[in-house]
Amino acid sequence: MKIASYIQSHQMTKTSFTTRSWQKLKHLLSKYKRSRGVIRKVMPKISFANNKKLKLVSKDDVKLGRLLGAGGFGSVYYGSYRQRDVAVKIMHKQSKNPEAQIESFKAELHVLDFEHPNIVKTLAATPFEEFKEGAWIVMEYAGSRTLQSMINNEELCQETRIRFAIQMSDALHYIHDNHVLHLDLKPANILITARGDVKMADFGCSQKVELDTGLVSPTQRSLLTGTFAYRAPELLKGQVPSNKADIYALGVTLWQMLARENPYGNENQHVVIFSVVAYGHRPPHPEIDLDPFEECYRDLYTQCWSATQFDRPSAKELHETLKIWKKHM
Ligand SMILES: Nc1ncnc2c1ncn2[C@@H]1O[C@H](COP(=O)(O)OP(=O)(O)O)[C@@H](O)[C@H]1O
Ligand SMILES: [Mg+2]
Repeated sequence: MKIASYIQSHQMTKTSFTTRSWQKLKHLLSKYKRSRGVIRKVMPKISFANNKKLKLVSKDDVKLGRLLGAGGFGSVYYGSYRQRDVAVKIMHKQSKNPEAQIESFKAELHVLDFEHPNIVKTLAATPFEEFKEGAWIVMEYAGSRTLQSMINNEELCQETRIRFAIQMSDALHYIHDNHVLHLDLKPANILITARGDVKMADFGCSQKVELDTGLVSPTQRSLLTGTFAYRAPELLKGQVPSNKADIYALGVTLWQMLARENPYGNENQHVVIFSVVAYGHRPPHPEIDLDPFEECYRDLYTQCWSATQFDRPSAKELHETLKIWKKHM
């Protein structure tokens, strides 16, 4: 049974969401874990990712401002485009790994037609043929904060953690429903708007999934890998990704919103990878008072980072559960 319908069937109204109800939610999380059988296949439907028309931008239409951030393949600048505040990702002209850089540029375009309040809107890009002259991606400007900078600077209260979790799971549900996997989900790639809402960003590692299997095609092995601490054990073992890889990364992100530390800190990367895969090693639970809320929160992120993909909830199931949880807070 779905967690959401269970809660409803037990009529956990606002007044009755007591310690007993928390226990029920906890019990349900474990029951739900046992009942998971198979990865639900993605039903074939026409993906608008296939119908995409590239919205081309002329560089003359963009006014560039200050540098917002820089990574391996490109730098992001503040700018304005058609009277709008925008962020412009400009791919470096020189790259140590040009093939991976091209792949990353193409990956960013997977979300060109996506429209979701919690996903950074991509507005336009330069034509692929002009890649060598410098490739640009123009996005809506989503504010100056990332979830990582928030975690570094302040404690995130229970309400904020649940609200962000709702918005991130909603964004993931939308992305997965449109046959794309993010594959680099982490607090540094989650932007927080001036109004305090989540905007999922950085689709530079994203991949499309096959409609019939829900998996990335085995022939489409990517040159790009996300950040190791957020990578699901099956990916560390070299298996093809499914949407459950993003759920694993979301689990680590939920943990981080509570722990306010970087997962695995300064531990040796190779040792961590080995122990995550071989021994089910995960970041340590923070030492806090485990009130009913925190017990459920711990159960939730623990379930998201389950070793077995089947045990991880889908983004839709997570979103439904969290929405009910929030209603009763
Ligand atoms: N749409 C945006 N609005 C505001 N800032 C952004 C936007 N996109 C990126 N940034 C800033 O640029 C940084 C790097 O962007 P990102 O897409 O994560 O690129 P990278 O591939 O370098 O990690 C982000 O951490 C953020 O600070
Ligand atoms: Mg990034």
